Order: sequence, then structure tokens, then C-alpha cells
Amino acid sequence: MASGAQEDSNMNEFRSGLDSLDGTLRPSESWISDSSYWIPRHFVESAWLEHAPFAFWLVDAIRPAVIAELGTHNGFSYFVFCESISRLGLQTRAFALDSWEGDDQAGFYGSEVYDSVRTINEADYSAFSTLLRGYFDDNLASIPDGSIDLLHIDGRHGYDDVRHDFEAWRPKLSDSGVVIFHDIAEHQEGFGVWQLWHELAAEYPSFAFDHGHGLGVLAVGSNVPPHLRAFLSTGAENASQIKEFYLARGRAVAELSRASVQAAEVPALQAEVSALRDELQNAGLRVEENEREIALHDIERLGLVDQVNSLHNSISWRLTRPLRFASDVVHRRRG
Ligand SMILES: C[S@@+](CC[C@H](N)C(=O)[O-])C[C@H]1O[C@@H](n2cnc3c(N)ncnc32)[C@H](O)[C@@H]1O
Repeated sequence: MASGAQEDSNMNEFRSGLDSLDGTLRPSESWISDSSYWIPRHFVESAWLEHAPFAFWLVDAIRPAVIAELGTHNGFSYFVFCESISRLGLQTRAFALDSWEGDDQAGFYGSEVYDSVRTINEADYSAFSTLLRGYFDDNLASIPDGSIDLLHIDGRHGYDDVRHDFEAWRPKLSDSGVVIFHDIAEHQEGFGVWQLWHELAAEYPSFAFDHGHGLGVLAVGSNVPPHLRAFLSTGAENASQIKEFYLARGRAVAELSRASVQAAEVPALQAEVSALRDELQNAGLRVEENEREIALHDIERLGLVDQVNSLHNSISWRLTRPLRFASDVVHRRRG
């Protein structure tokens, strides 16, 4: 082995020795795990797609006893949390809160949205997950104070709405409670999460992702989970590396979602193509039939022409010509 290669190999061994030191986190271990590479099981329409990899990592890192989500809609973010619980085999309880009516920002929708969320929930996650259908405030009594370790706030996005949701649900957080806010990078008319985020990030340890409309991670409890503490301290020094990694992973998930939506459309498109092919074939058969009929008419017409010609040429026809001529003259005179 060349001496440079030998040195590299020694250095790698030395590094891996350091990595395996008990209780020592490799730099990347503070913000990447196998779960960062997981693929969501349920792709549904959402503006949250690009946050799935970080959400997988977060649940893995803080292993919450209770997760609650304010604003579930089609269930994308919620089912990412549920999928983490399921794959990690955690004892976590999860609660999805939504009126399932929509709002003026997300758009209003019909009961089919709740029905599809309920179907997925019942099929895959009902052992630990509960859908609380109604207004957030009406369900405050359903969840005990001091119990939520991970709260996702993604309801209406006006400043007053999101401040109200944060303040109303803060007493529900445990002493290691973490809150994530969606849309902190959205500045369009009527959106004020960015403003609340600005205020809260000055008050609590935090990290902000800019992609996917922005996701803010806020360590509200006094007892910050150790892995999240490591994440936040790495994030304070090296935010760009973390942001770039989760942006790339997020984009990959969004791309996969688009592909899976297209793949789901394939059977319907195939049925459409086969219906068109049948129609085309039927039209071809009709054309053939028409052509056959036209040919028969042609044959019939030619037969008649032959008959007329042979009549004209017949002897009796020629012999009766003077009679026909006389009859024409009489008719013309009378007329
Ligand atoms: C932006 S969507 C949630 C998106 C979802 N987290 C995802 O992954 O795509 C917001 C949802 O919050 C719900 N919502 C807004 N304000 C609410 C309130 N006060 N009570 C109950 N639901 C509310 C709406 O019905 C809507 O479905």
C-alpha cells in the first residue's frame, strides 16, 4: 500500500474508533440518522412534503410519549409522525386535530378528506393514533396538561391565529416539549407565522429551515431532549450544512411524491387508452361495413346500367322506337 493510502486508512480507523466512543456523538449523528432517509408510506397532497426527512429524524431523536398536531388536512405530516412511531416501535400516543372543514387559507373541502384520513388511520395506525375532529380549542380538554412532547402547529397562518394556538396549547406541553411551526418563511398577505417565529426564536432555543415554506423547531420545555440539544448546538454553528442536507432529502421526497401520484394515475390512463383503442377499432369496423355497402351499391348500380344498356340495344326496343317518338309528339302537342 502506498504510504499516503496507508495514512488515510489509519486515519479512517482512528476516526471510526472515535465514533464508537461510548456516549460520543459524531458531528453528523447530532442531525442525521437512518430515519433521515426514510420514505413516507402515504403520499397525499400537501405543502409539507419536503419536511418529511427532518420529521422522521426528529421523532427518532426525541422519542416523544405524546405527539399532537393542530391542522392535519389530508394527513401528510401526521402520517409521517405516525409512520415514525410505527417503524421505531415506540409507545407514543398521537393525536390529529382538525375541523376537517378547511379554512380560507388551506381552502374549504368536503367530508371525503376526513374519510380518506380516517381510512388510512384505521388501516395502519389506530393502535396509537386518534383523530379529534373539531375546532382546536374545543378539544383542549381531550389532552392533559403537561403531556405533549411534540406539538406541530399548522392551522390557520395569520399572526393572531398562530399566537392563539401556541398560547392555548403551551400548557399542554411537557417539560421537554418541542413545538414545530410550519410556514415560518411564508410572507404572503395574511400569513404571520414568520412574525411570531421571530419573537419566539428570540426567547427559546430554536432552529429554522427555509425550504418547503419554512419549518421552525422550538425547544420550549426547560428539559431539552439531549439529541435535540446536540442538534441545536450544531445548528448554531453549522446551520447551512443541516439546511442543505434536509433541503436535498426533502426535494427527493417531493419528487418521489410526484412520481407516485403519476404512477397512481397509470391504471386510469391505461383504461382510457384501452377505451380509445376499442372506439377506434369499432370506428374501423363501421368504415369497413360502409365500404362494403358502397361496393354492393356499386355492383347493383352497374347491374342496372347493364340492364338498361341491353334494353336499349334489344330488337323490340329498336322496333318500338317510332311508336315512342309518336307518343312523345302527341304529349308535347297536348302540353
Ligand atoms: C395547512 S392545513 C394542514 C396541512 C397538513 N399539516 C399537511 O401536512 O399538509 C390547515 C388545516 O387546519 C385546519 N384548521 C385551521 N384552523 C382550525 C381550527 N381553529 N380548528 C380546527 N381546524 C383548523 C383546517 O381545516 C386545515 O385542514
